Amino acid sequence: MRKLIVGNWKMNGSLAMNTELLGGVRSGLSGISCDLAVCVPFPYLAQCQSLLEETAVVLGAQDVSSHAVGAYTGQVSTRMLLDFGCRYAIVGHSERREFCGETDEVVADKVQRALAGGLTPILCVGETLEEKEDGRTQEIVGNQINAVLKVLEDREVSGIVVAYEPIWAIGTGKTPTPEMAEEVHAMIRNLLVSRNAEAGSRVRILYGGSMKPSNAAGFLEMPDIDGGLIGGAALKAQDFLAIAKLASI
Ligand code: PGA
Repeated sequence: MRKLIVGNWKMNGSLAMNTELLGGVRSGLSGISCDLAVCVPFPYLAQCQSLLEETAVVLGAQDVSSHAVGAYTGQVSTRMLLDFGCRYAIVGHSERREFCGETDEVVADKVQRALAGGLTPILCVGETLEEKEDGRTQEIVGNQINAVLKVLEDREVSGIVVAYEPIWAIGTGKTPTPEMAEEVHAMIRNLLVSRNAEAGSRVRILYGGSMKPSNAAGFLEMPDIDGGLIGGAALKAQDFLAIAKLASI
């Protein structure tokens, strides 16, 4: 499966910073053969769309509304994202689950709406440190995946991307070993495949959480790790490109 590397800029960026960052990315794309995307803050979609013109780097958002249109102050619809050339929307990132109270049900609605609107949702799942220490990783991640599978038609399953992001690894510099991550990825793969063998085998399952050039290769060589969702390291063109190069082998 062709690997996918996605940058999640979170609430970082400015007109000047984006120009420099994407200028750096643009100038280092030769030799990269994986799929590449950046998920940028909403206000910069138009700017980033134009900065990425005529490159293979795809644009994405960091959230999307579960509603199609209407009186939802502050929300952004799939249609609006498509207007700016977005192909992806991150859905259910742990920071939104934690700070914006997004439940498994809200996340499932957003995944469904994104698919219906023609976007590829990047569904984020992952356990807290406490849940990991209690030996509940598989249960927590399994529940997060199943909440979404419950609302999808069989044929829709292949339209999602999953990102396994242990919450204790996000922005901390700590990571599971590639083998530990692979165990969770294999469990996710099983759930997807048992729902629909053909569709489930085609879903890309990304690893996220302190992925950087020095540790990416170990994750990317695991059989069920099909790419990465990159936070901090995506804010430096050299690091982002270095990870993309490792995913291109
Ligand atoms: P990080 O973030 O790479 O900075 O740990 C990953 C993410 O939250 O998507």
